[in-house]
Amino acid sequence: MKTRISGKQISMSDLMFSISEAMDVAHHKLALHQLRTAYICWKMAEEAKLPPSQIEKLFLAAMLHDIGAFTAQEKISHYEFEAEDCESHCLRGELIFSQVPWLAPSAKMVRLHHTPWCRCNEPIDAPDVMEAQMLMLAEMLEREIDRDTHILNQSPGLRVKMRNRAGSILHVRVVELFLCISEREAFWLELTRPNLMSFLKYKGPVQHIYGDVAAALKMEEFFTAIIDFRSKYTASHTAGVSACTSSLGTLLGLPESERVELELAATLHDLGKIGVPNEILEKPGKLTRQEFAMIKMHSYLTFTLLDSVGGLEEVARIAGSHHEKLDGSGYPFHIESDEISTSSRILAVSDVFTALAEDRPYREGLPPKQIKRIMQDMVTKQHLDGRIVDTLLGNVDEVVRAMKVRQQQWTERYYSVLLMTNGSLGSLH
Ligand SMILES: [Fe+2]
Ligand SMILES: [Fe+2]
Ligand SMILES: [Fe+2]
Ligand SMILES: [Fe+2]
Repeated sequence: MKTRISGKQISMSDLMFSISEAMDVAHHKLALHQLRTAYICWKMAEEAKLPPSQIEKLFLAAMLHDIGAFTAQEKISHYEFEAEDCESHCLRGELIFSQVPWLAPSAKMVRLHHTPWCRCNEPIDAPDVMEAQMLMLAEMLEREIDRDTHILNQSPGLRVKMRNRAGSILHVRVVELFLCISEREAFWLELTRPNLMSFLKYKGPVQHIYGDVAAALKMEEFFTAIIDFRSKYTASHTAGVSACTSSLGTLLGLPESERVELELAATLHDLGKIGVPNEILEKPGKLTRQEFAMIKMHSYLTFTLLDSVGGLEEVARIAGSHHEKLDGSGYPFHIESDEISTSSRILAVSDVFTALAEDRPYREGLPPKQIKRIMQDMVTKQHLDGRIVDTLLGNVDEVVRAMKVRQQQWTERYYSVLLMTNGSLGSLH
């Protein structure tokens, strides 16, 4: 599983932990749902004496199992056992996993994570079926845990619930494994420990997976699916920002190493939006102060999620400051011009330009003349860098052409993902 590619080494495994954490930020009820599920799977897989590579595969599937649930509402409805359509997010999850070489082996487990044993049409010893059943049990168990009651006061009842599902929803052997590990108080106490994330990061079964910036950029489809495919309004936003930053990086003569880092920062700049509910992102009217506070959190969240990944510190700094302004009135750090790098400035300009040109729930994309006026006004107010805005406006046709090609590709991909995975357009619009 270890990949070593030359250049600056990025810990891809740290990045997966950050994404797993981000997936459960949208609602307090979901906190650590993915990671707790992964912990339960890990302990069951150890009890089953699976080979380490298989344990790692299952753990990776579990720590990102709901990656195909694009909206917080979708996640909550699954969490509360209220979802009518469980299949779409499993299929989307399988598709997203299959796009990353070292996640692809776990894709089948993700697809089957809500398939009850009585509806499974493969034998238990078929590849990955037993593991998918472990994931199903772990996921159901995690959702049954009451976060307000001490875990040892509910563990006997949880064991009974799982035992009652043996033979119908869950395979008997999988329930037996669970009953073995759950006899020990240590299992329950470890599962609910407050610092589970760092415990799993350093003691868990995932080996360190490294890649360079180019390898991380190859995961663009994976990132875009989780960041932008939550809404038709943002489906091609990152693609537009990336195309714009890469054109500006070239036009402004940025060195190659800085250009690739900037492109990765552009790809990940709105990662923190995973923590913002869709009803706020898609609100047709003016945001309340409370709602705007949620929006303001996203670039900080992008920063912290990336800053905890070995090798991505500079990318975190660029991406996390895409809403900073030269006069210090931006957010979340209020840094001023001398602290804002050229890369951050390019990203800020690209983000504003792309956002103004895009349709939003509350307005259509703005015409070029109006965009030009708004951006020049932002330069006058010391919000955006004048040299970069001039470069953009002086080459606007070329930049827009590059953006349109990339955005069109992503819009088509967005609709094909939805159609391939049961066409659940209704839940995402
Ligand atoms: Fe789940
Ligand atoms: Fe799920
Ligand atoms: Fe943003
Ligand atoms: Fe953005």
